[in-house]
Amino acid sequence: MLIASLKPRTMGGTTNTGLLAYALSRAGHQVTCHDADESLQLAAWARDVDDFPGEVREADTPSFAETVYPAMDHSRINLVDAGHAENHPDIVDSVLEVADLVIVTVSPTNPDYDRLTRPERGTPLAKVIRRSAALRDSGEPPATVVLLNRCQAGSNSPKRFTDLLAGGGQDGTLPRWNVLATRIPRREAIASAVGFPCNKPERKAPYDALVTELTRLGHLPAPRGSR
Ligand SMILES: Nc1ncnc2c1ncn2[C@@H]1O[C@H](COP(=O)(O)OP(=O)(O)OP(=O)(O)O)[C@@H](O)[C@H]1O
Ligand SMILES: [Mg+2]
Repeated sequence: MLIASLKPRTMGGTTNTGLLAYALSRAGHQVTCHDADESLQLAAWARDVDDFPGEVREADTPSFAETVYPAMDHSRINLVDAGHAENHPDIVDSVLEVADLVIVTVSPTNPDYDRLTRPERGTPLAKVIRRSAALRDSGEPPATVVLLNRCQAGSNSPKRFTDLLAGGGQDGTLPRWNVLATRIPRREAIASAVGFPCNKPERKAPYDALVTELTRLGHLPAPRGSR
C-alpha cells in the first residue's frame, strides 16, 4: 500500500513521516519510504543514521504515478513524504493519483488552519484531494485523515481546531476533515528528530499511538508476522 504524507506548507511533515516509518517498523510492518520533496530531508535522515527502518528512495517527480509507483513493492507499506502542496502541486497531484491513504499534517494554529482551508494563493488542499478522483482507478479520492502536530499540553487549541476542521469551519460551509484522535505533542525531542536516531521515548509513544489508531480505523493491514 501507499501512504502519502502531505501538508500545505512547513508543518512537521518530514518529522511525522520519518517517526511514523519507525513506528510502523516497530509494529512489525515492512516499510519503504519515498522522498517526493525537493529538499530531500527524509532521504538525508535515512543516510545519516544507522537505525532508519528500510530505505528512502528519491522520488521528487511529477511523474510519480507513472515512474515511482509501478516500481514499488506493494506488499510493503510505502510511505511518501511530499513537499509543500502550495509550491509543488504537480508532484502532489501525481502522488494523489495512486495513494491509498493520505495523512495531512497540520498544527492547531490560525496560520496553519488558514493555509489548509483558505490559502491566499493556490488551491485549498481539500479541493486538490477531491479533484484527484478524476485520475484514480476507483474514481474516488483517497481516504484522508488529519494529524494534528505540535500540540501544546494543556492548551484548548487542538480541540478547537479539531471542531473547526471536522465541522466545516465556523459556519459549516468548508470541507469536513477526518481528524485523528492521536495528537503529536509539541516536544523538543520531536523538534530535533529529523536526522537523528529514534532513541527517545518521546519520539516513539505518540507515533505508536498513531499506528494503533490507523490500524483500528482499518487503514493499515495486519503486520506480516500476525497474518
Ligand atoms: N512535534 C513537534 N514539536 C516541536 N517541534 C516540531 C514538532 N514537529 C516538527 N517540529 C518542528 O517544526 C519544524 C518543521 O518540521 P519538518 O521539517 O518536519 O516540517 P516539514 O513540513 O517537513 O517542512 P519542509 O517544508 O521543510 O518540508 C522543524 O523546526 C521541527 O523541528
Ligand atoms: Mg519536509
